[in-house]
Amino acid sequence: MKKIRIGLAGLGVVGKGVYDILKKDAKILSLKSQAELEIVAASARSKKDFLDPKIKFYSNAIDLANDPEIDVVVEVMGGTSLAKDLLENSIRNGKKFVTANKALLAEHGAEIAKLVEKYDGHIGFEASTAGANPIIKSYKESFTSSEILEIYAILNGTCNFILTKMSDEGSDFAETLKEAQKLGYAEADPELDIKGIDAAHKLTILAAIAGSTNPNFKKFYVEGIDKISASDVRLADELGYKIKLLAIYKNRGDRVEQAVYPALVKKSEKISQVDGPFNAILTLTSNASWSMMIGRGAGSLTTGSAIVSDLVDIANNRKTYLFGVKADELKNAKISDISQRVGKYFIKLKVDKILAQKTNLAEAIFGTKIKIEKAFFLDEGEEILCGFLTEEHCEEDVVKTLQNLDSNLVKFSKFLRVEETKF
Ligand SMILES: NC(=O)c1ccc[n+]([C@@H]2O[C@H](COP(=O)([O-])OP(=O)(O)OC[C@H]3O[C@@H](n4cnc5c(N)ncnc54)[C@H](OP(=O)(O)O)[C@@H]3O)[C@@H](O)[C@H]2O)c1
Repeated sequence: MKKIRIGLAGLGVVGKGVYDILKKDAKILSLKSQAELEIVAASARSKKDFLDPKIKFYSNAIDLANDPEIDVVVEVMGGTSLAKDLLENSIRNGKKFVTANKALLAEHGAEIAKLVEKYDGHIGFEASTAGANPIIKSYKESFTSSEILEIYAILNGTCNFILTKMSDEGSDFAETLKEAQKLGYAEADPELDIKGIDAAHKLTILAAIAGSTNPNFKKFYVEGIDKISASDVRLADELGYKIKLLAIYKNRGDRVEQAVYPALVKKSEKISQVDGPFNAILTLTSNASWSMMIGRGAGSLTTGSAIVSDLVDIANNRKTYLFGVKADELKNAKISDISQRVGKYFIKLKVDKILAQKTNLAEAIFGTKIKIEKAFFLDEGEEILCGFLTEEHCEEDVVKTLQNLDSNLVKFSKFLRVEETKF
């Protein structure tokens, strides 16, 4: 039986998962790949006790790219500097490459796609997006008979866990984040997750495959969940909605809407019901209609399983273009500015109670500029906290109206977007 000799760069959460799966599932994997998938070398900052002593250890990961006894380099270190050097050197030296690194592909994908084709190489990156959910393979190999029209995705388990807890317990963001950190659902440095950057990296990858376009991480609107308060969640709940951090892609023909933001989604919609640390990707395609994948987006064996599935593909010589089509055929997407978004909005305001009682509140606040579909009020002593759900408006009109509210009546205002998937 042929051997696929693997060099494993990174022995942390995902690296250990890959190591464990290759060991415990060796028999079934060899049946499925008609090969022996063997780790022959590994690298990390420090050597690990669990490593079989037969496995060579390199303290410099780049040595894996130069080792002639390695066929495939698996990169699960993270970061975009050393990981990029390792990728480039591995591909140039004729090795196949597998990675879980969404930042690397989102930020350098266009250049990487060209390099891979130049050297007739192959990169598997199933683990980069939505962990155990095989969404990359679905988009690149199964939805090829349809155009991907819309994506609504929960791509960050940490944020989904925090928002679910805030909704279940009525707690505020800061205390919920601390609890999530204690339980191991959030990193000590949670910025990439809570600011929406991690979800934006993953959306960049999905959008590139969906639209056959170059990955474009820098040019779209990204808002995290760090400004979501207990009262936002409470008002949304009273209006019949949950708040979810959504990664959104809508193909509008001549342009694309692409963004990450916390959005209100009706409780009756399926994606609204995906709670806790789970990920979900809801896709609307031209021929296959709606399809939704739900599962774990992180974890050792879960993410490791996506890496190993790429290794099985390599053993079976299954190969696709990095973003679904040839690098030269990838276009540059025209991403519309968030100010041009047309949709419903949730507006939260604090108003003076005495003034509010004298008047038809919504009309006094918005005049005819914003049409209100539904409202809920919370009595806060001298003030009233109002949650308004609007009809469809263009975002720049909403922003302008909120900037010009009567400051004698309205003490504070903010808005969130509302998404309707109809699924
Ligand atoms: N965790 C998940 O569930 C998950 C899910 C999807 C994707 N990912 C992606 O998978 C990658 C790895 O994540 P992880 O959670 O496994 O990270 P992790 O637990 O922090 O492990 C990182 C590993 O890389 C090694 N490393 C870091 N810098 C290195 C360097 N300069 N030279 C050599 N080795 C180095 C570390 O070595 P030491 O152990 O010696 O410090 C460690 O073994 C990231 O790109 C991440 O975004 C993770």
